[in-house]
Amino acid sequence: MADYLEYDPQTIERREVYRLLTGSVVPRPIGWASTVNEEGITNLAPFSFFTVVCVAPPMISLTIARNPDGSKKHTLLNAEATGEFCFNVVTVPNWKAMVDSANGFPEGDSEFEHTGLTPIPSVKVSAPRVQEAPIHFECKVERVLELGVNKHPLLIGEVVYFHVNPDVMEGGYIKMEKLDPLGRLNGFFYSTMGEILHREFHDGQPR
Ligand SMILES: Cc1cc2nc3c(=O)[nH]c(=O)nc-3n(C[C@H](O)[C@H](O)[C@H](O)COP(=O)(O)O)c2cc1C
Repeated sequence: MADYLEYDPQTIERREVYRLLTGSVVPRPIGWASTVNEEGITNLAPFSFFTVVCVAPPMISLTIARNPDGSKKHTLLNAEATGEFCFNVVTVPNWKAMVDSANGFPEGDSEFEHTGLTPIPSVKVSAPRVQEAPIHFECKVERVLELGVNKHPLLIGEVVYFHVNPDVMEGGYIKMEKLDPLGRLNGFFYSTMGEILHREFHDGQPR
């Protein structure tokens, strides 16, 4: 048996804990969240501490860490103020614009202008969607949990409307080769899909 390296998160530095988490939970999907504030200024930012929560009703979650000064990020402020946000699926053609949308821009500037991405209106929420993304979820804030001693905000949203570009659909499924999704690895590294593997359950029934 290998001699595993062992780490106690209570005795190592925060940076090392981050490296263990983000190097082990891979590849992560990216919750690319678009919001608008009460003045109508749009906002767009990626969050890879992101996942699907449940199906009925459909919910997703994003962990939106506080800024180093303890303040809340714009995405969370906007989602809390309006009760709404959109999730946009990140695909390979959009990956550089997604990274650029994480840059801090001056207060009042929109990441849409800086990245050249196109905000389009939603059906049920005030938050815009990213036209260049093939899938959008319109979400209403279900709740914001504050976790642990540092009260890390976990934003949970209920999906109230789905938009899917028909180009990525085939036979009622979202076809991965057509979607071309992007994964977040650790550091500044990202992954494309690679080889797709297939193995069915014993009963052979589609899910
Ligand atoms: C690929 C990627 C993933 C990220 N994931 C997270 C995350 O899970 N949680 C987080 O708080 N910040 C994450 N960030 C950083 C935020 O996107 C960044 O702080 C952004 O400026 C926040 O924007 P806002 O203040 O407009 O909400 C990530 C950045 C990148 C490039």
